[in-house]
Amino acid sequence: MSLQDMPVVETGRVDMDSKWFELYQKGIELGTWDVSKLVDAIGVEEDIEVWNSLEPEQKEQWARLIAAFVDLEHAVAEDGRRIIEQMASPYLDDSIEKEMYATVFAMTEAKHTQFFDMYINTVMDDVFPETHLDIRRGGQPLPRTSACGMSKLGERQGAHMALAANNGDPVEIARAATTYHMMVEGIAARGGYFLKNNMMQESPLPLLNKGFQFVSTDEGRHVTHGLELLSELLEKERAGIPEYQGVDEAIWEESLECLPHVIDTAYFVSAAMDDPLGADFDGLIQRGMELWHAQFKEALDLDHYAPNTFSQVAQQAATEADEADYDGRIEHHAETYAKKLDLDESNVVRGGVADD
Ligand SMILES: [Fe+2]
Ligand SMILES: [Fe+2]
Repeated sequence: MSLQDMPVVETGRVDMDSKWFELYQKGIELGTWDVSKLVDAIGVEEDIEVWNSLEPEQKEQWARLIAAFVDLEHAVAEDGRRIIEQMASPYLDDSIEKEMYATVFAMTEAKHTQFFDMYINTVMDDVFPETHLDIRRGGQPLPRTSACGMSKLGERQGAHMALAANNGDPVEIARAATTYHMMVEGIAARGGYFLKNNMMQESPLPLLNKGFQFVSTDEGRHVTHGLELLSELLEKERAGIPEYQGVDEAIWEESLECLPHVIDTAYFVSAAMDDPLGADFDGLIQRGMELWHAQFKEALDLDHYAPNTFSQVAQQAATEADEADYDGRIEHHAETYAKKLDLDESNVVRGGVADD
């Protein structure tokens, strides 16, 4: 039954015409997929068979991509309570519908974490022999995540979310929403789906693919939420309300701070390792540029938007990435990860170039 066909249930306190209520209702209806039932329905056998047929370099490429997803989903799931606090900010009009939506939002991030955690420990466990450190509780991201810009993006997001949730002003809320919903979900995750789709052509992993479909549908709502939130802040800035001045500039500045980390991650997963599964770095840059324009120019129409910035920043970041010693970085972070668990580093990262 679609939303339009549902019987109308009257409420007194909840504004059912609110766009936030609509997002909440969509989350209730579409966000209820279940990781265990998905595994039951699709099975893991085919994924394990395909996985076991891959070359070490191909496994390493998947491991780099999925490490970024599991760690960032974990980080955002742990920001769940902050999303609820942030949406309750008096600068966002004390709206119950926003808080209701935020609860569904937080739930889906927890589920995404569960899905990727299950997958790396069920199918990819040979290249991820040890994964259980908790980033926010004395641990650190997986060595592959630490080796690229994704870990820096996660740190930025956590820091901004903490400030925004703790009675943050509109400019701080704008920075947090830009990092989280525009850059992590809108550009980095969507870039990740682009790489994933190409890699699936060479090595189809049906359970992983189905999980990604559900995750990306949920994430589509999260990006919509980010755009709605930022549009609301921009509208108040444009109306001249003093507390909201500086939002446009903060969104643009924050996006430019985040962009090199996204490019670095994309390079790490593709061009840095001769791209054995055809993930396609150049195609990704093209896709990223389109997403960038769609978000910051078409949807938000930022005053600070400058057309050629994406290419300039991307070019510079790719040049730096080309000189980076990613294998050395993985080894270094594997050592610190292993130390925290009192293990040998070979028990933390295995496979692909890590075994060279
Ligand atoms: Fe997510
Ligand atoms: Fe999300």
